[in-house]
Amino acid sequence: MTTENKRRAAIIGTGFYVPERVMTNHDMEKIVDTSDQWIVERTGIKERHIAADDVATSDIAYEAASRALKDAGITADELDLVVVATLTPDHPTPSTASLLQKRLGATHAAAFDLQAACSGFVYATTVAAQFIENGFYKKVLVIGAETLSKYINWEDRNTCVLFGDGAGAAVFAAAEDGSGILSFDLGSDGRGPELLGIPGGGTRYPDNEDTIARKVNRIHMDGKEVFRFAVKALPATLKRSLEKAGVSAEDLNWIVPHQANIRIIEAASKRLAQPLDRFVINIERYGNISAASIPIALAEANAAGKLKKGDLVALAGFGAGLTWASCVMRWAK
Ligand code: ACO
Repeated sequence: MTTENKRRAAIIGTGFYVPERVMTNHDMEKIVDTSDQWIVERTGIKERHIAADDVATSDIAYEAASRALKDAGITADELDLVVVATLTPDHPTPSTASLLQKRLGATHAAAFDLQAACSGFVYATTVAAQFIENGFYKKVLVIGAETLSKYINWEDRNTCVLFGDGAGAAVFAAAEDGSGILSFDLGSDGRGPELLGIPGGGTRYPDNEDTIARKVNRIHMDGKEVFRFAVKALPATLKRSLEKAGVSAEDLNWIVPHQANIRIIEAASKRLAQPLDRFVINIERYGNISAASIPIALAEANAAGKLKKGDLVALAGFGAGLTWASCVMRWAK
């Protein structure tokens, strides 16, 4: 089998959705002691979308998934697998993917959730790639979806200004023309919830009056430490994926990074010696949406016609765990 006709998993459709309600930095100024200037200078974020009280992760995932299926030109009953990457599922169980499978009418599909925080979409992409490359499945829907607003401590200015809600989705199918996933790199350094996470609400610190009052079930982060980790992890994982694909950073047409902080993306641009305009950046409008950040950026770039058939595209994320993940693909559409 030559490299050209090897079976690879390629994206044949993308879609994204963000809730209507927008909270600007000026809205944040009314809630905590912060300023538009601080948030823009330190993070690059200007506004974020926040789901209504009665909207759950599967609701926004459904919108993104429907758009991705439409873009791919397939119906849900053609899907073999639905994977939802999320750290904010509707319920501990059943999985958000199972709820979606029913709602989409993906009657022939298996379904499960995958939790790797902000690296989740890239982790899930590699899962889709395995099933397609080995020939067991033909069409896999991967969604990154979050309603992080439900876990924000709205009294903590260190974290509440950073996050937003939304979902992005991609449909994967087999390609034998050289397009698709060429390589990936996944990793984990389990430094745990002390550094970044939602410590409460699980089996270690189940919700009770005390944990709820102390907001143990809200997002906690040692921002400085995570920043230090991220500026190294993002370029390092990208370099490993590039090496495995046998290409160099200069060959990339687009890099779609996790959108946590513009300074982290700028640092990656310097370390990789690649211009910032090769990075897909939308953090100013959405903030950090964990597993949804990368697929939303990818779907937006695709909808804007930026990604051309044959383009070399890299995805790269990092997040709680700590985890990191990247992949390099030849764009198929
Ligand atoms: N408004 C005004 N001042 C603030 C705010 C705010 N919103 N937040 C913090 N400050 C203050 C701090 O209290 C501190 O004041 P002090 O010096 O008097 O103590 C000062 O600003 C500086 O704070 P730093 O923490 O040093 O600010 P820093 O430049 O490190 O930026 C930030 C903080 C934006 C959180 C940054 O550290 C960061 O982006 N970290 C990485 C976040 C990340 O990548 N998360 C990844 C994944 S998320 C996931 O997986 C769910």
